[in-house]
Amino acid sequence: MILDIINKKRLGKELTYKELDFFFNGFLNGDIADYQMSALLMAICINGMSDEEVFALTKIFIDSGDVLDFSDIPGIKVDKHSTGGIGDKTTLVIVPIVAACGGTVIKMSGRGLGYTGGTIDKLESIPGYKINLTDNQIIKQVHSIGCVITGQTADLVPMDKVVYALRDVTSTVSSIPLIASSIMSKKIAGGADKILIDIKVGNGALVTNRDDANKLSRLMKEIGRFYNKEVRTVISDMNTPLGLTVGNGIEVLEAIDILKGKEKSNPFVDLCIELASDMVSMSLDVSFDEAKDMVIEVIENKKAYKKFLELVENQKGDINKLKISEKTYKIKSLNNGCISKINALNVGKLVFNLGAAKAHVDDKIDYGVGIKFHKLVGDNVKKGDVLATIYYNKKLPEINIENIYKFE
Ligand code: URA
Repeated sequence: MILDIINKKRLGKELTYKELDFFFNGFLNGDIADYQMSALLMAICINGMSDEEVFALTKIFIDSGDVLDFSDIPGIKVDKHSTGGIGDKTTLVIVPIVAACGGTVIKMSGRGLGYTGGTIDKLESIPGYKINLTDNQIIKQVHSIGCVITGQTADLVPMDKVVYALRDVTSTVSSIPLIASSIMSKKIAGGADKILIDIKVGNGALVTNRDDANKLSRLMKEIGRFYNKEVRTVISDMNTPLGLTVGNGIEVLEAIDILKGKEKSNPFVDLCIELASDMVSMSLDVSFDEAKDMVIEVIENKKAYKKFLELVENQKGDINKLKISEKTYKIKSLNNGCISKINALNVGKLVFNLGAAKAHVDDKIDYGVGIKFHKLVGDNVKKGDVLATIYYNKKLPEINIENIYKFE
């Protein structure tokens, strides 16, 4: 049976619900070996899956753990997910904005994958911030302030944890059907009524081309339809790092600047406003344009910033204790010209080498390190101008400016 199933997928045929259930649950229970699961994952990666197979796999993932029920909380609960990128701090900005507009957000976030930092790691740079809330604590907090950002509980889609760990080491992460069922199973089990997915596309993302991003978008909406949940998607660029900073604590500080209205016009702020408007529109059932007016208003009148402080305080964080490394190094331009590219992947690798993410499970994250850009794509610079500041703690890694910046 095990070999028949692997062989069937190797030949590009469709697997039944029963076959997928047997195989994936067999792996979770330890009856199917890593190497057999790896073979099936690779066959899926190469030959793809039909929509029916993806719906079946999503159900098998959801059924492997708890399904949270937040029906006691009034209002339409929205959740969002980003497929991940360098400098992606959108959750920190948009969750308080949506709650300040009167929307209801239960956001379950994850840790970093590869070079990309996770929202939970960023929040842990705020001393004291609790990321392991129980269901009751989540319900209580959402009743009182309209939002929560917490980690996923161990019992939420345990199948994804074991399958993801194997995908990570068998080069099968980038399969569109596997990404769709992994993300959507967690979002559906997480109990939201409506879901917004920010699909990142570019060299710093899991999905590197528009074609695959469109396929993923269609598939996630179809899974949403199957489960009777509205799913909206936004496809956004991930060739350039998002915003002005990459790190952990330093990204929290940037999020605060945006919430205070200090950062007004860069592509990252525009993306946050777009995503927040979609979430407000979904949560309050108003048009996107009406939602956008509300979003801009709560940034201008500082309600969004106050909501962020309430969120941190409710989760026992002390924002005044957040510390950024005091050791700095300035990257200066070697050229005169216009910046045509800041390479997201290479920035991710640099910040990773500074210690902002884990190379091994037992590593400790250095929350104070990172990079802040002073010049962005499209800016004209002269030789010697400061392009960016690096915040480091231990040894400064070798920095190859030409790997990061391109000029025209
Ligand atoms: N994020 C997930 O949670 N799962 C994937 O498969 C890819 C990105």
